[in-house]
Amino acid sequence: MSTLFTGISELRTVSKRGTIKDAAIVVEDGQISWVGPQSGLVELDADFGEIIDLGGRAVLPGWVDSHTHMVFDGDRSEEFEARMAGQDYAAGGIAVTMEATRQAGTNRLEQLVRQRVQAAHAGGTTHFETKTGYGLSVDSELESAKVAKQFTDDVTFLGAHLVPPGSDAEQYVEEVVGPMLDAVAPHVDWIDVFCERGAFNEEQSRRVLAAGKAAGLGLRVHGNQLGEGPGVALAVEMGAASVDHVNYLSGGDVALLAGSDTVATILPACDLSTRQPLAPARQLLDAGATVAIASNLNPGTSYTSSMNYCVTTAVLQQQLTLDEAIAAATAGGAKALRRHDVGLGKDGSGRPAKGTLVPGAAADLHVLDTANAIDLAYRPGMPMTYATYVGGKKVFQARE
Ligand code: NIG
Repeated sequence: MSTLFTGISELRTVSKRGTIKDAAIVVEDGQISWVGPQSGLVELDADFGEIIDLGGRAVLPGWVDSHTHMVFDGDRSEEFEARMAGQDYAAGGIAVTMEATRQAGTNRLEQLVRQRVQAAHAGGTTHFETKTGYGLSVDSELESAKVAKQFTDDVTFLGAHLVPPGSDAEQYVEEVVGPMLDAVAPHVDWIDVFCERGAFNEEQSRRVLAAGKAAGLGLRVHGNQLGEGPGVALAVEMGAASVDHVNYLSGGDVALLAGSDTVATILPACDLSTRQPLAPARQLLDAGATVAIASNLNPGTSYTSSMNYCVTTAVLQQQLTLDEAIAAATAGGAKALRRHDVGLGKDGSGRPAKGTLVPGAAADLHVLDTANAIDLAYRPGMPMTYATYVGGKKVFQARE
């Protein structure tokens, strides 16, 4: 039985089909089987089990949030307030969250992540990646990986987030690439490293990525957040799917990203929260790089999962058009997670593509409470998410 969605004022397909006015979508077994103008439905010989009238609202692909740190306990509001009074952000604050996360216990971590997933759904997010990285010991990283895996099949091992206080950096890297990686590998899909002054240097980062690759994991990098550095070049050299933050880029970094398959993931909420210059998204797009927008939900630098806010910021302050920002927060995020290929089995996984609304893709829908998607930026900060569907099933509905 299929489900028919009608009453779509504009359907932003994020594909060559562009925007379809007065559109309809047909969903079968969690995937889109047809999209087009509602007037084209007469040509379909289909028996619809359910018809959902969206009442003249705009529909986008659900946000694909390709960078979050959902597994944490504790709060760093004092650090944030000090920052707003002029203190610089430094990686050391990660240790505060490490203490709270180690003490939380599995049940509490599960409960916290469940609440965060619900909040993400309420903001139109339909797929997300999330990381370990606040455990920083074999047992605690393993606990975080297992908790994360209950909520998403894009889990990243970030043991190389910070050298825990009191540990020797070299010994800690050996632990990350040895027993810690061995323990978490069955529960994770990606490996990541914070390649930055105050965290891990180029040689240590290369070692972490190489070990992850040898264990069959995909690669991701936190890079060029606090200053120019080796993160982008290393990510491209190692074939990482994404390098995230990218605030400080040399001309060479931009050219490398433009000439590679490594996605440049910008984190606008983090840039504002840390008072860093906004990542040069316009320059990256103009050069031909693929840009993704992600929330970077975490208690230190970006305590929000609101992709609406990130997209609004990219349009209002980073000079992206609405279409570019929507594409970065949907298909861009999907590419950063290598989930963008339409067609079952094309990437060998048998998983439907995310971040686009075309036949064969997942029926992950973000229904806005407006007829015009431009309202995301035109009416910034207003509640915009009306309903969210993952695989054709409703996971959030705003109160009428
Ligand atoms: O992506 N930059 C490194 N990691 C996180 C922040 C970690 C923290 O301060 O808790 C980020 O911004």
